[in-house]
Amino acid sequence: MEKLILEGGKPLFGDVPISGAKNAALPLIAATLLAPGVHVLHNVPDLRDTRTFLRLMEDLGVTHQREGDTVTIDATEVRDIEASYDLVKTMRASVLVLGPLLARRGQAKVSLPGGCAIGARPINFHLAGFEKLGVTCRLEHGYVDAAAPGRLRGACVYFEVPSVTGTENLLMAAALAEGVTTIKNAAREPEVGNLIDMLNSMGANIQGKNTDRLIVTGVTSLAPANCRIIADRIEAGTYLLAIAASGGEGRVTCCQPAHCSSLIDKMRQAGFILECGDDWVAVRQPGGRGLSGQAGGWKAVDVKTMPFPGYPTDLQAQFMALMALSNGMCVITETIFENRFMHVAELQRLGADIRIDGRSAVVSGRGMKALTGARLMATDLRASSSLVIAGLAAQGRSEISRIYHLERGYENLVEKLSALGATVWKERE
Ligand code: EPU
Repeated sequence: MEKLILEGGKPLFGDVPISGAKNAALPLIAATLLAPGVHVLHNVPDLRDTRTFLRLMEDLGVTHQREGDTVTIDATEVRDIEASYDLVKTMRASVLVLGPLLARRGQAKVSLPGGCAIGARPINFHLAGFEKLGVTCRLEHGYVDAAAPGRLRGACVYFEVPSVTGTENLLMAAALAEGVTTIKNAAREPEVGNLIDMLNSMGANIQGKNTDRLIVTGVTSLAPANCRIIADRIEAGTYLLAIAASGGEGRVTCCQPAHCSSLIDKMRQAGFILECGDDWVAVRQPGGRGLSGQAGGWKAVDVKTMPFPGYPTDLQAQFMALMALSNGMCVITETIFENRFMHVAELQRLGADIRIDGRSAVVSGRGMKALTGARLMATDLRASSSLVIAGLAAQGRSEISRIYHLERGYENLVEKLSALGATVWKERE
């Protein structure tokens, strides 16, 4: 195992290019199962999770080749229909093969994901949706065994809570179903929109993109795709917050500013100056950097996580790191997952003043110099990135163990941070 070492207390400056979105790449790779032939996906990030997903595809008989950020996937044959426990336990998004396998093969067997570091995360909405489409789902030996007697049938599916991967799974299943499927209270995340664009380019008929009511008119076959993965709005947000918290100034490039608007609003409320171009967002310190070249501090701002276009749960931990360094008190409320405060105890080890009260965290910002480096433990992907932000802003050295969590979702993290002027490297534990 490897750990990350950071020498904190240095402002970050410069441009950082944003990679393709992990949470768009995974459903788009799964969607290639829907059509026989050779698919080409561009801007696919090379991450632990995309590699795991492509390995799962190999298990199903679907081969691939990577050249730079382009991945060519040959889905001519889908030999197997099973996603094993060994894969699903390392990556819950493996459940995304259920929808396309049911559509193409009428059968799928996927290990039921257990709880994870951020909450119970059941898949009951996915299964209830499939059952509406005529699928029978049985749970046996820890596996969901799903089968349909013939072609799936269109139906009306309502999500109690908008589920991102639930919406994606149902879209893929319904694309080849007989008749019309309506998904109500669907997730509106940009990654869902990326999947809709890909499916429509393959010949599917899906209306209602970017709304919570999606109408899928099933077709009998789909053609292979040639599609581009959108930029990772969570990676973009993480770097904006890292630059801001370090007292620096810079830009995230190759991204879609419209996908980051809730974060941009919150950072502006805190006093930062944010400017957007066609494919970049720049951040500057509140009131500039002063005659001494020093940043002057920022305000505390309350945040509540919500489905898109609300503030993303995947940027909650990182915003908390920024708020620990603010001048004031704020409340950060997590409404999506029930256990997404694992980073709090680690931030406290750096000197942050944070108190958890149910689903809220009360953060008393202690100013820009508040934190001091310490040894820390990564618990999940986004919690770890908040520790990186805090570690870069803290005075002195921090060490973050179990960085495989970070490698699941941040491409070339050390290289990108180093290019911004951070002193950071990996070492064997
Ligand atoms: N939920 C259920 N039953 C279901 C599905 C969801 O109760 O069948 C609940 C969840 O427990 C949660 C809420 O509904 O309380 C919303 O969860 P959602 O289904 O939207 O989450 P997800 O699809 O499993 C995706 C991302 C997550 C991100 C969430 C929320 C992917 C592969 N994962 O998960 O990303 O946090 O949406 O935006 O797209 C990450 O990248 O670090 C990450 C965790």
